[in-house]
Amino acid sequence: MINKIKKIISKKNKTKIICLTAYSKNFASEVDKYADITLVGDSLGSVLYNYDTTRKVTLDNMIEHSKSVRMGIKKSLMVVDMPYKTYQNKKEALKNAIKVIKETKCDAVKLEGGSKIKEIIKHLVRNNVSVMGHIGVLPQSVKGKFRYKGKVEKEKGQLINDAKLLQSLGAFSIVLECIESGTAKMITKSINIPTIGIGSSKYCDGQVLVTDDLLGLNETNIRFVKQFVNLKKIINQGIKKFKKEVISKKYPSKKYSY
Ligand code: KIV
Repeated sequence: MINKIKKIISKKNKTKIICLTAYSKNFASEVDKYADITLVGDSLGSVLYNYDTTRKVTLDNMIEHSKSVRMGIKKSLMVVDMPYKTYQNKKEALKNAIKVIKETKCDAVKLEGGSKIKEIIKHLVRNNVSVMGHIGVLPQSVKGKFRYKGKVEKEKGQLINDAKLLQSLGAFSIVLECIESGTAKMITKSINIPTIGIGSSKYCDGQVLVTDDLLGLNETNIRFVKQFVNLKKIINQGIKKFKKEVISKKYPSKKYSY
């Protein structure tokens, strides 16, 4: 696992890092063929459960989906999001992170925040928990509308300081969510660990997207989401064909019967 993390870090300034979400085995096994990092994101709350906030996602939700994802992964680094209110203090964070790692056999956990959770990240790393950071827009903290970060000087400085702090605490990589391009570029240049962008420009060391979004399964008008294929259309074709053949009694033919 340490070697897998070293491999991710070694990609900085050489080749882009691919990170994608998966919430179940079948998706994970396809994602794993192309991704360096498979993330079981708490975005599963909105994608699978229609929650209006990731705050409703529980540790049990994350563990059950991650167990399924684990079965689909052969090579990528598996990272699991620590959900809201599961890392409020050092003791609770370590207990919950160890539970996630033991039960799901993931390689690392991801936590949202910078200086505010400094002591928590330090404690996890000291206890051999591999940590991925996450700064910029923090869905677990957002109330109301999402607004991108890092345009104003004060915010820019804070984000750069947070990124440097996370590196010094031992995080192996940092997700930059919805950070203004110039600021994302500065952050990426000012640290030695990889930045993984989402809505944070091409200047990051890697990119992450919610797989359901890029496949066109999730209807969204978020600016940074590009739909790379319309999977809904393909699914519809298959289901329609099935229905047609059942109604016309073409399926199941002798070949598919006992
Ligand atoms: O929850 C999630 O899927 C995430 C990524 C989109 C970065 O945190």
